[in-house]
Amino acid sequence: MPGASPLIADGRPCYRGAMHPISSDRPLVIIGAGGHGRVVLDAAIASGMAVRGFVADPPPPFTNDADYLGGLSLLSGDFLGDHDFIVAIGDQKVRRETCEQIRNDGGRLAIVIHPRAWISPSATIGGGTAIMGGVIVNANASVGDFCILNTGCSVDHDSVLEDGVQLCPGVRLAGRVHCGADAFVGTGASIIPDIRVGAAAVVGAGAVVVRHVQAGAGVRGNPAREQAR
Ligand SMILES: CC(C)(COP(=O)(O)OP(=O)(O)OC[C@H]1O[C@@H](n2cnc3c(N)ncnc32)[C@H](O)[C@@H]1OP(=O)(O)O)[C@@H](O)C(=O)NCCC(=O)NCCS
Repeated sequence: MPGASPLIADGRPCYRGAMHPISSDRPLVIIGAGGHGRVVLDAAIASGMAVRGFVADPPPPFTNDADYLGGLSLLSGDFLGDHDFIVAIGDQKVRRETCEQIRNDGGRLAIVIHPRAWISPSATIGGGTAIMGGVIVNANASVGDFCILNTGCSVDHDSVLEDGVQLCPGVRLAGRVHCGADAFVGTGASIIPDIRVGAAAVVGAGAVVVRHVQAGAGVRGNPAREQAR
């Protein structure tokens, strides 16, 4: 059954530009079946991907368009080779560890992009990244592996998101913003041009970030200031 998934470049999925066809002969498995998992499911179905179902521990308390396939112990052998995977887990550490384990075991991470997202043809998107409806990724932006770009956020020109960055709904990154690995930017936060957000930093919901953020720091408010974490 035809489905869409990653364009494979150098053995790693790398999506370049909204106009490129992306296709895969492997159905998609979504790992994680909470609220975020169901949003990813909607995006995958809307984009025409063939979805096999959810893998999650414990089993999800709902039924849906896709089946529950079983727990994480499924992720080995033929199952790993027969599917593409997207890890729909909001927790930064758990998502990274799960993605790295899939890759280390020879599995393939998909890219899910809602058809109502706009991705510049000059932008790049790494494997395992999920991009929801209403997102804009503008010219020359670079989005790393297993990032989440949640509903309606925007990443403007020349911005760089290293691996594992999560932008919550409605986040606004101006041009040339740099987010280090595993940085988390809360709902509706805005970051002005040329700002660097350090690795694993946390930007609170609604913050307006006008100064660089240290790695591992937590900032909130307008203008955003560091808070003890
Ligand atoms: C910033 C954040 C990480 C802090 O979380 P926390 O450490 O658990 O903070 P708490 O809820 O214990 O609140 C501590 C204080 O900070 C304040 N505060 C919390 N979040 C704030 C924010 N985003 N902006 C300003 N103040 C905030 C609280 O009002 C509280 O103040 P008080 O001590 O005067 O009562 C969190 O509140 C946040 O903004 N998370 C974003 C979540 C999000 O967008 N998720 C979307 C998933 S799709």
